[in-house]
Amino acid sequence: MVMKTYKIGVIPGDGTGPEVVEQSVKVLNKASEKFGFKLEYDYLDFGGERYLKTGLTLTDEDMERVKTKDALLLGAIGHPDVKPGILEKGILLRLRFELDQYINLRPVKLYEGVETPLKDKGPDDIDFVVVRENTEGLYTGSGGFFKKGTPDEIAIQESVNTRKGVERCLRFAFEVARKRNKKKMVTLCGKTNVLTYAFDLWERVFYEVAREYPDIKTDYAHVDATTMWMVKNPEYFDVIVTDNMFGDIITDLGAVIQGGMGVAAGGNINPEGVSMFEPIGGSAPKYTGLNVINPIACIAAGQMMLEHLGEDEAAAAIEQAIMKTVKNDMKSMAAGKMGYGTKEVGDLVVSYL
Ligand code: IPM
Ligand code: MN
Repeated sequence: MVMKTYKIGVIPGDGTGPEVVEQSVKVLNKASEKFGFKLEYDYLDFGGERYLKTGLTLTDEDMERVKTKDALLLGAIGHPDVKPGILEKGILLRLRFELDQYINLRPVKLYEGVETPLKDKGPDDIDFVVVRENTEGLYTGSGGFFKKGTPDEIAIQESVNTRKGVERCLRFAFEVARKRNKKKMVTLCGKTNVLTYAFDLWERVFYEVAREYPDIKTDYAHVDATTMWMVKNPEYFDVIVTDNMFGDIITDLGAVIQGGMGVAAGGNINPEGVSMFEPIGGSAPKYTGLNVINPIACIAAGQMMLEHLGEDEAAAAIEQAIMKTVKNDMKSMAAGKMGYGTKEVGDLVVSYL
C-alpha cells in the first residue's frame, strides 16, 4: 500500500519562529510515524532576514510554490529592524489574501493545569471557538490619504464587506457549531448600533444562513459587550463569528484567558485551497535563541493542521499529549518559566505520543 503523503510548506520565519516550528515538526513526525502517513516538508525562508538581505517579501515564484502544498505551517513573522507593516502586509496578509484563506479559526480552550487570569474560572468554563473573517473588513487596504502631511490631511480606512465573503464565513461558523456538537450556538459579534452598513449586512445574512441550520441556536452580541462576557461569563460561548478587525482584537483576549500566547494557535483556512496554521503570538525577539519560548502553541497549530488534512486520530493524539504535558509537567505557560526549555517541552509531548 502506498502511504498517504502530505506536502507541507514550512515557514519558520522570524525571532522565535524557527525554535517553535522545530518542536512542532518533531511532534508531527512522531504522529505521522505512529498513525501511518508521511509528511514531506519544503522549508521556505520568508521573513525579516531575507527581506533585509534582498528587499523581497514574497515573490510570484514564492506564491506559485506555496500553491503546490497541501498545507502550510508558520512560526512567526515580524522583525525588530523592519518597519512595522512591511512584513505583516507583504508576507502574512498576502498569503492569507492570495490563498483566499477566508477563515481564521481560533479555538479558545483552557487545559487542566494551565493558569488563567480569570478568577474562579476553569477548563469547564473556557471552551469556545472564534471564527474570524480573514480576507475583508478593515484589512483590505481600501482607503487612502488626502493632503497627507498638511494641516488639512485626511486619512480614510474603509471596511469592505462583501455578501459572498460574509456569507461563506457565517456558513463556516454554523458548520463548526454543528461539528463541535456542544452548546450548538453561534454568536454573531458585531456593532449593529453604530456600524449600520457593515453589520446590517452581517446581521441579515446571519439570520438567512441560520435558516439552513435549524439545529443551531442564534445569538448576537455587540463587540464591546463580547469582551465583557468573555471575561465575566466565558462559559456562555460556543462559537463566536465576527469580522476581521473585531476577530483580531477579541482573539488576543481569548488567548490570554486560555493561558496566554504560549498556548494559543490558529488556522487560516481556505476549505477549498491551501490553508496555513500558526501560533498566534508574535516573533518575541527578546526570547530568540534562548530555548525559553513556549512551543505548545506551535505544536497545537500542527495539531490543527493534521485535523484539517483529515488525520483526525493523529490530531486527537497530539491534543492528548499536549494536555498531559501542560498538566503533569509544565510549571507555567510563560517563556522562561516553564520549568523546562523549548526543546524539552517538545520532547515531553513526543514522549506522551
Ligand atoms: C494576527 C496578527 C496579524 C493580524 C498581524 C500581524 C497582521 O495580529 O494574526 O492576529 O492582525 O491579523
Ligand atoms: Mn492579532
